[in-house]
Amino acid sequence: MTKKPIILAITGASGAIYAVRLLEVLLAAGYDVHLTISAAGRLVLQQELDVSVDLDDFQPNSLMLGGADAGDSKLSMLRQSAGISSEDSNVLAFEVGSPGKIHYHHFEDYMAPIASGSFLTSGMIICPCSSGSLAGIVNSLSDNLIHRAAHVHLKERRKLVLVPRETPLSSLQLDCMARISDAGAVVLPAAPGFYHGVKTIQDLVDFVVGRICDQFEIEHTLVRRWGG
Ligand SMILES: Cc1cc2nc3c(=O)[nH]c(=O)nc-3n(C[C@H](O)[C@H](O)[C@H](O)COP(=O)(O)O)c2cc1C
Repeated sequence: MTKKPIILAITGASGAIYAVRLLEVLLAAGYDVHLTISAAGRLVLQQELDVSVDLDDFQPNSLMLGGADAGDSKLSMLRQSAGISSEDSNVLAFEVGSPGKIHYHHFEDYMAPIASGSFLTSGMIICPCSSGSLAGIVNSLSDNLIHRAAHVHLKERRKLVLVPRETPLSSLQLDCMARISDAGAVVLPAAPGFYHGVKTIQDLVDFVVGRICDQFEIEHTLVRRWGG
């Protein structure tokens, strides 16, 4: 049976590197990824990784590890410091046939298939997830494709994983997290552990990405498991 695709939404919280690494792992695991990026998500990609993404003319290579503007970009330097190389696909504990593909959707395109519950998926990940998107989804606003697709996953009782990055947290943000958790979503903060022999940034990034993969039962070798 072929794998159903996974939706990945990148919103404007800090931690764009988590999304880039997650995208690489999901594709390597053979998942087609339906990708969408908010306007603020684009700003954070630029700010943190020097990655320029044109939301109206998206080029998959701009986000890929080892991609287009590598050179001395922040993404390139961050990847080097993290020990991540484009050949580094040794992150899965199983043999994969062919890698998945990216299907990009503009965050305001309500005609995209992921706006409808009739489009079957394995689930949706919002990584990183801004407090703004969290609040928008909790209040069922559906005022962009990301909020709409998240709402679809809640109403269809499908896997929805949110990766917020904010500290400290207000009572309002904590309330939003509790409410979306009650509605069936998994709140998985970008809060890496330090107990697995951390040496590089990659270890921290991979801790969070590994925990996201665990939610989809993707057998990976991103982190040494406790007791393993
Ligand atoms: C460089 C940068 C870093 C940001 N970091 C965070 C963050 O860590 N967490 C957060 O909730 N919002 C953060 N924000 C604010 C959000 O981007 C802002 O609330 C935005 O409206 C969210 O929109 P979106 O959910 O559509 O992406 C950041 C903004 C910028 C420009």
